Amino acid sequence: TQSNLTKRSETSENVEISSFHINSTVTSRYAITVITSRVKNRHTDSKEIHFKVKIPKNAFISKFRMTIEGKTYDGVVKEKEAAQQQYSEAVARGESAGVVSSVGRTLEEFKTSVTVAALSKVTFELTYEELLQRRHGKYDLLIHTQPMQPVADFKIDVYIKENPDISFLEVKGDLYTDELANAVTTTRSGKEAWIHFYPTSDQQTKCLRCTADGLDGDLIITYDVERKNPNGDIQIMNDYFVHFFAPSNLVRIPKNVIFIIDRSGSMHGRKIQQTRSALDQILGDLDSDDHFGLILFDSSVDVWKPELIQATSSNVNLAKQFVETIQARGATNINDAVLKGVAMLNKHQREGSASILILLTDGAPNEGTKTQTPSSPRAAIGGKFPLYSLGFGFDVNYDFLEKMALENSGLARRIYEDSDASDQLQGFYKEVATPLLSDLELLYEGASNLTETAYSMYYNGSEIIVAGEITNNSLESLKVEVVAFSDVSLKALPDVEPQHENFTRRVWAYLKVKQLLKKELTLTGEEKEKAKKEALDLSLKYSFVTPLTSMVVTKPQKSDTQIAHKPEESKEETPVLCFYVLKSHALSVTQAPQRVPTLTHHTWYFSRLPIHRLYIIMYSR
Ligand SMILES: *[C@@H]1O[C@H](CO)[C@@H](O)[C@H](O)[C@H]1NC(C)=O
Ligand SMILES: *[C@@H]1O[C@H](CO)[C@@H](O)[C@H](O)[C@H]1NC(C)=O
Ligand SMILES: *[C@@H]1O[C@H](CO)[C@@H](O)[C@H](O)[C@H]1NC(C)=O
Repeated sequence: TQSNLTKRSETSENVEISSFHINSTVTSRYAITVITSRVKNRHTDSKEIHFKVKIPKNAFISKFRMTIEGKTYDGVVKEKEAAQQQYSEAVARGESAGVVSSVGRTLEEFKTSVTVAALSKVTFELTYEELLQRRHGKYDLLIHTQPMQPVADFKIDVYIKENPDISFLEVKGDLYTDELANAVTTTRSGKEAWIHFYPTSDQQTKCLRCTADGLDGDLIITYDVERKNPNGDIQIMNDYFVHFFAPSNLVRIPKNVIFIIDRSGSMHGRKIQQTRSALDQILGDLDSDDHFGLILFDSSVDVWKPELIQATSSNVNLAKQFVETIQARGATNINDAVLKGVAMLNKHQREGSASILILLTDGAPNEGTKTQTPSSPRAAIGGKFPLYSLGFGFDVNYDFLEKMALENSGLARRIYEDSDASDQLQGFYKEVATPLLSDLELLYEGASNLTETAYSMYYNGSEIIVAGEITNNSLESLKVEVVAFSDVSLKALPDVEPQHENFTRRVWAYLKVKQLLKKELTLTGEEKEKAKKEALDLSLKYSFVTPLTSMVVTKPQKSDTQIAHKPEESKEETPVLCFYVLKSHALSVTQAPQRVPTLTHHTWYFSRLPIHRLYIIMYSR
């Protein structure tokens, strides 16, 4: 560590960031963010200058450019495999792995470097795009910044333009402290909002995690829009439309929910404790006309009650008492547990209600599944209700969980092993707590190349976004109808509001790629290849760095090429084993292997005693 510290201060003295600007423009939930950093090499010899920024996981990088002595070097998006072959040298040096890596729950890190001549300058410019997803009734635009030194000319500018009026707007995040509050200005006017964050060099050393090295943290802009038209808003531009559908004036549908809880040995300790505490809260939040069931599984599958029962306060209390007694033990028989849940829901048909399965597991299936195909829950569910898979920690077989959830119109989510795991579980539950529509289909006349139009549920606080191409170049012929199971049939007419930005097409491409990548996971053979090909073609056309493409960054030194890949959630390499030898002991004293729970924090504490040697062994599945 000592030598690292010296290195850093030496670098920051002679490498000066003359300006650092982040400019984010949000047009109807579609955010395009540009980070521009101008750096001066004040050394009297050439120096390697680093550029390192963090961007949201959900975003696609769409552009990277370096400008050195008036010459520009653009990153080029290519098919992943082709890029890899072409630049096998860079791959062999291990550089492709490092350019973009996953850090923590919500961010990815992009880093590169370039050698700059004495007293010369370089400008780095990175652009990324994301469609903000509505959760818990709001959109969050997260901007992370850590320039590694105070910067005299530092600016974050955000411009939001929505079609309906903005209903509320709030600036949050760990950069928004009392000391920095006066660096933020917010202006709002109907459909538009401007947020500027211009902290002085002095202020940049004063936020929560900021040090002499300057800013380190997030600015989060949270907002929502008015929903005067219950059928949503449609925006049309250059033959592409985007339909935002999030009615809030509907009554909730009572639900039948089954929680399938892993109590295998690996859940022992804090994980099972956090699960119990989350369940306690969740059960308390059930509405009295909801019906619920609890299934526990390890190598065997047990039910609390053989059938779903109504969430009356006395039943909920009984369930809470039962939850208190859950202990971890045994192996992991996910398949039989899910099938049991499906059987219970299938037996419990209730007019006008919505059924949901929520599976929580921390392990790979190691019993039951071997002899059965993983698609058996799919056959049993038959598309009748969604299955959500929550993977606790990094020992889970995330691919398996995600595939199973996607095949059953649900989704998979990772729960990070941390002190707030219980809040993460409750947060997920809240997203699906209030179904407002079920078996929903959005029908469009006069449109083609649509993104996903069928949804098993619409939950309060979320939003469904469908994009497509208008056929016959005719706005008049576009008609929308929303058909849902729960006695509601809405009819909508296009509410055309021409805009200056050409964003509808990019929203369409972004959604299409995201959905094709998910769909591809559940397909096989020719269909799988077709979905992959379509996602690849769109990624290339719109220059998105997705799991199928890579960005090749060529530097002035010709042989020096880097390749940026998008990290994938299912392939995160987090399991870490650490062995350490204390200085006071001989080498022969080795502590038992310690598991570091996650890599979400930068600081790990091993021991209060001086460590002589630390071995860190990383492995990935
Ligand atoms: C931010 O980017 C937009 C779109 O490129 C541009 O119109 C605007 O002038 C930029 N704002 C600032 C403050 O640079
Ligand atoms: C849906 O959420 C909004 C707040 O976002 C709330 O005002 C409304 O009552 C909720 N609707 C139902 C049916 O719970
Ligand atoms: C849209 O669909 C038509 C056929 O339905 C196809 O010919 C066209 O290429 C598609 N457009 C895009 C941009 O994929």
